[in-house]
Amino acid sequence: MQEIILTKPDDWHLHLRDGAILNDVVNFSARQFNRAIIMPNLSPPVTSIEMATSYRDRIVQAKDPALSFTPLLTLYLTDNTSVQTIKDAAEHPDIYACKLYPSGATTNSDLGVSNIEKIYPTLEAMQEFNLPLLIHGEVTSPEVDVFDREARFIEKTLGPMTEKFPALKIVFEHITTQQGTEFVLETNTNIAATITPQHLLLNRNALFTGGIRPHHYCLPVLKRESHRTALVKAATSGNAKFFLGTDSAPHAQSKKENACGCAGIFSAHAAIELYTEIFEQAGALDKLEGFAAFFGADFYGLPRNTQKIKLRKETWKVPESYPFENESVIPFRAGEPIHWKLLAA
Ligand code: DOR
Ligand code: ZN
Repeated sequence: MQEIILTKPDDWHLHLRDGAILNDVVNFSARQFNRAIIMPNLSPPVTSIEMATSYRDRIVQAKDPALSFTPLLTLYLTDNTSVQTIKDAAEHPDIYACKLYPSGATTNSDLGVSNIEKIYPTLEAMQEFNLPLLIHGEVTSPEVDVFDREARFIEKTLGPMTEKFPALKIVFEHITTQQGTEFVLETNTNIAATITPQHLLLNRNALFTGGIRPHHYCLPVLKRESHRTALVKAATSGNAKFFLGTDSAPHAQSKKENACGCAGIFSAHAAIELYTEIFEQAGALDKLEGFAAFFGADFYGLPRNTQKIKLRKETWKVPESYPFENESVIPFRAGEPIHWKLLAA
């Protein structure tokens, strides 16, 4: 029986939601990750330090006290985020970054940034106070093809931004394209990227296999196979600019199986197992620990974890659904096998 031991990983991009749902989802992450960067796209969004710290308290309250798990909070940037808020956030022990959602790009992004130039003073302050900027990198113009939105964002926004703020630490979140991997590799050392399990495992055919597949719909949307292989190459290369961020984003079944279904894939139930499958298929299991446990911490300037986890090569079947407030959430690979299993600590 094959087993591997890894330094306990962190999830550098996670949606936990709020209220009763927190209780349903937080422990899936807490059982495998030591820390997670928590996305602020709640309704209303987490735009102030007070909102972030009270959200942090609710997460800690919802978590199983037997599990060690530290939520690392982020603030949601709007057109009006003040320089003072950035300064206070940079000094605050619970806040680790700010998230840029171009307005209209995804779930609860309506209050996001309408025009990037409007927030240049905010970015200037983030650069000065060394607060990382996390980016949902897609243009939102309806005339741009949905599959081209990431590539256009690089040309139109991200390229100029990295030139204007060369010392700003940027995480290009959930990259989905070859252009994304190339941009990160070619740009300075202050830019890194997270990569999700779904973008490493699936191409856009998975949205239409035998019919429309709402549980494979996320944003940025899955891309063609050549992009998936570019992402696998980047993730498994051992290059420290690429690290784990699941973008696990649960929505109730009725919000996914809907005439206008929400974007988001729930993967927290099996995240590290899914990544292990990917690295094994690529013949790069030796590169998994860096991607999952070292490079993100190094980029954020945080200590690496010291605890360990153990995975066994063992097939198990993902449940068809998990409880989600008064409903269900359909997990990634529902009803299908996964070939690695995280063993209890
Ligand atoms: O698929 C996604 N779901 N992409 C995002 O950017 C947001 C997320 C969510 O919050 O549901
Ligand atoms: Zn996300």
